[in-house]
Amino acid sequence: MKLPKSLDNSISLIGAIIAVVSLVIMAFLVIVSLFLEEGGAYTGLFTYIIMPALLVLGLILIPVGMWLKIRRVKKSGQPMSTSWRVIDFNQRSHRNAVLIFGFGTLLFVMLSSIGSYEAYHYTESNEFCGETCHKVMSPEYTTYQESPHARVGCVECHVGAGATWYVKSKLSGLYQVYSVLTNKYPHPIETPVHSLRPARETCQQCHWPEQFYPNQLVNERHFLADSANSEWNIHLRMRIGSDHRSGGLAEGIHWHINPNIQVDYIPATDKREDIPWVRYINLATGDTTIYMDSENPLDEETLSSAVPRTMDCIDCHNRPSHRYKTPQDFTDRQIAAGNIPKSLPYFKQAAMQVMFSESFTNLDTAKMTINDRIKEYYETEYPDILATQKDSVEKAIVGLLDGFERNIFPYMQASWDAYPDHIGHIEFNGCFRCHNNQHVSESGKVISQDCNLCHTILQQGPPDNPQVAQFNQSLEFEHPVKLKKGWKEGLCTDCHRYLYE
Ligand code: HEC
Ligand code: HEC
Ligand code: HEC
Ligand code: HEC
Ligand code: HEC
Ligand code: HEC
Repeated sequence: MKLPKSLDNSISLIGAIIAVVSLVIMAFLVIVSLFLEEGGAYTGLFTYIIMPALLVLGLILIPVGMWLKIRRVKKSGQPMSTSWRVIDFNQRSHRNAVLIFGFGTLLFVMLSSIGSYEAYHYTESNEFCGETCHKVMSPEYTTYQESPHARVGCVECHVGAGATWYVKSKLSGLYQVYSVLTNKYPHPIETPVHSLRPARETCQQCHWPEQFYPNQLVNERHFLADSANSEWNIHLRMRIGSDHRSGGLAEGIHWHINPNIQVDYIPATDKREDIPWVRYINLATGDTTIYMDSENPLDEETLSSAVPRTMDCIDCHNRPSHRYKTPQDFTDRQIAAGNIPKSLPYFKQAAMQVMFSESFTNLDTAKMTINDRIKEYYETEYPDILATQKDSVEKAIVGLLDGFERNIFPYMQASWDAYPDHIGHIEFNGCFRCHNNQHVSESGKVISQDCNLCHTILQQGPPDNPQVAQFNQSLEFEHPVKLKKGWKEGLCTDCHRYLYE
């Protein structure tokens, strides 16, 4: 049986060549990936997205070419048989052709279903989400790899289970690819993610409130910006639940997500950093209390048009996976880890001065600037330290740059400053967005800022001479450096948001 005449045209031929070549390349890549465990982000992109797309394109070109040829021939008035062929099973060539065509189709359908299954997996993989658009996603991917969720897939939080969310995320993904190609995406990528799937559907796949702990210990090591980089440690017992396991979520920090409790709020702006209006509904009794910020009340107009947001995990844990540490935090961690020698006098101060006085636009120049400025600092302020401890200075700079690289991303403008962390209240208002003694209900109730509401301080002070709390009691917070009288009136962020500026 001969091939139809209409196949004899260059478009169909090109289509066929594209299809065959991409099929061969795909087969080759699949075989390679069987032998090499890690193919990298781009192998998957080629094997499961680009090559199959080319294959389909090639296959589409074949009938398109045929159709064009028939039209052309018809227009020119030449005779050409376009009538349907008659298949005669008595002829061996016809039988073979049908067999070949049938098997070919079956094989193609089989391969493409395996292919689309793999493509599905691939577009759900961390390498696809985190590495394909490397420059854009590098801040999120890098911080993710250092987070407690480094072994949890991006899609577990960002997409979750179910076809609707899969389609939703892929549609918005297409738009994202477009905005990357046309360089239209914002630097930094905007936060909060308004289209994030409700946290109760994602986080609670793995953390369900019935199994929360009543308490968690948080031990922090700090190094002050003085001559000795003096260490100051704080041990807190976080009252995530009630004091006893049997108390469930009836009190404590996770009270907000007790199934009987609903806390709604209206933020002043999309950023959710100021919260002037809070409503607490006790779903069991129906009691409702509305708290308004007495210093910065919400104007009537915004209030009447706003849709309140119901508080969920993300309103506190907004950085479970992408935590951009502050310069003071990552420097402290590098000192604690021994990557920056604690014995090098004034290093914390030097580092903070540089970090808070420079702005960076590109990683390479940032590294050079930091290196130069630290050395300049020692040259002008403490030349004898530079002379006698040059190696220490070099080592400290390496440690600082290491911390910098993993937390500040000049190209994307991604850093602690762009992505506030809502757990805590020191650099960002976090809990104090509501718990600032300023949110008052009509009957005069306030959302409390009591220092023992959320945690008790078990230990604080220098490691060789700490204050230690008695069993089941809390120490009164002692600020690590002496402050002027009256500092307790304000918020910690009044000083700490840009502490070293
Ligand atoms: C444990 C859950 C979790 C995992 C795993 C996770 N994310 Fe996120 N991601 C979040 C949350 C929560 C936010 C911030 C939501 C908010 O504040 O609105 C976020 C925000 C983002 C943003 C917006 C910018 C920002 O930081 O607010 C991007 C982009 C992003 N994630 C990409 C990724 C990529 C890529 C991966 C995998 C490499 C990943 N995420 C893994 C929970 C997660
Ligand atoms: C696929 C399972 C999974 C999902 C989904 C998930 N987590 Fe986790 N989460 C984990 C694992 C595993 C750990 C690490 C436990 C450990 O290190 O002991 C963890 C740890 C945590 C911790 C403790 C971190 C710490 O510093 O000790 C918090 C808080 C947390 N997750 C919050 C969230 C939030 C909020 C979400 C939703 C945005 C979420 N998780 C989604 C599995 C998950
Ligand atoms: C959107 C506003 C809002 C934010 C943000 C917020 N809270 Fe609350 N919180 C409330 C309200 C409202 C109450 C109940 C006040 C009342 O009527 O007693 C409350 C009560 C509490 C209680 C007491 C629960 C009990 O009865 O035992 C704790 C503990 C608590 N919050 C901890 C936190 C922590 C920790 C954070 C930050 C990680 C935080 N809250 C952030 C609104 C908020
Ligand atoms: C009111 C703020 C707030 C809300 C809402 C909240 N958390 Fe937490 N959660 C905290 C704080 C504070 C801690 C203590 C750890 C810390 O300070 O980092 C904590 C600790 C945890 C831990 C580690 C300890 C443990 O019990 O295993 C997990 C996991 C966790 N939260 C998951 C969740 C999930 C899931 C949700 C949503 C269903 C949620 N949290 C809602 C504030 C909150
Ligand atoms: C509404 C809850 C809440 C209240 C009220 C509260 N805190 Fe906190 N505090 C937190 C949370 C959450 C953290 C973060 C723990 C962590 O790092 O994960 C924290 C952290 C701290 C830390 C440790 C900071 C560090 O990095 O070492 C100190 C110190 C502290 N609080 C002092 C206070 C003092 C003093 C008050 C009273 C003015 C107070 N807190 C009131 C929730 C609260
Ligand atoms: C009047 C300004 C001011 C206020 C308000 C303030 N601090 Fe500080 N804080 C400082 C200064 C200055 C340092 C010293 C920094 C250094 O030497 O590195 C400091 C250091 C600290 C440190 C040591 C670790 C670090 O981050 O350097 C902690 C912890 C701390 N403050 C907690 C708090 C808490 C909690 C509050 C709110 C209850 C608060 N501070 C309010 C000025 C302030």
